[in-house]
Amino acid sequence: MRTVFERADSASRVMRRRRYLMCRPAHFTVEYSINPWMDPGVPTSGTTALGQWKRLRDLLVDLGHEVGLIAPLPGLPDMVFAANGAVAIDGKALVARFRHPQRTGESAAYEKWFADDGWSEVRQATAVNEGEGDFLPAGGVLLAGSGFRSDPAARQEAAEFFGLPVLGLTLVDPRFYHLDTALAVLDDEEVMYYPGAFDAESRELLAERYPDAILATEPDAEAFGLNAVSDGRHVLLASAAERLAGQLKERGFEPIGVELSELLKAGGGAKCCTLELRDGRIPPSTGARIRRVVPLPDSHAA
Ligand code: ARG
Repeated sequence: MRTVFERADSASRVMRRRRYLMCRPAHFTVEYSINPWMDPGVPTSGTTALGQWKRLRDLLVDLGHEVGLIAPLPGLPDMVFAANGAVAIDGKALVARFRHPQRTGESAAYEKWFADDGWSEVRQATAVNEGEGDFLPAGGVLLAGSGFRSDPAARQEAAEFFGLPVLGLTLVDPRFYHLDTALAVLDDEEVMYYPGAFDAESRELLAERYPDAILATEPDAEAFGLNAVSDGRHVLLASAAERLAGQLKERGFEPIGVELSELLKAGGGAKCCTLELRDGRIPPSTGARIRRVVPLPDSHAA
């Protein structure tokens, strides 16, 4: 009898418990426009936003994750998008420096939150850096987007701060103005992305590094399906991104649809609302993709 390795299936996808930081959308509204999704002329409902956000938070908690909260501040309606607040790896937090004046007030709140939470090194970025909106840790690499928000100079700064290699990617479609609207890290070595959001050079880099990546269609990307939160097994993504959910299932992930239509009016989705806190307080798993060994019947043996 011979054994072969099969593509990972849902029985072998291993969730790693995570710690996230979220911010209740207590002051959420769309009163300015800093991305193509935002139209201050379209009414928003605070109650709907809060209800949708709560379901996302409850889902994460029910899955076994820990969710910390940062207090929402009046006059900062985009603060619900906690992913933008910082990049937080190995107990070190690089706090955001926002591009637009409408959001600059958020940085001090994040700096204080990380200091109070006892992170060993907390510093605000010198270059414009919109946190996990543009910087996505993947295995031992930091995927770094620029083109609309974070400065290309922020790559070098993040690389030095965290001591990690950075893979710079350039975004070219204003609908996908943050990296996390165009690409999601599914586990250490797996990503899904929408190629049309990137320039030719970045598309080449991505194809080379992730030859097996899930490629999203334009409608799924537009539905914010790539603005997803993965724990290695469960992938929380916009329920409208149905085809993407099917692609995830084929790869053995467990897609979970979330409805965040109210927050989409500000150009945000599930990932925008969650900042991962990689502080080592929750023991990490091996991080390796685990494959199930399937014995082949003897008749199939060579
Ligand atoms: N209205 C916010 C902005 O334009 C949305 C931020 C979405 N966050 C994200 N991580 N993509 O800044």
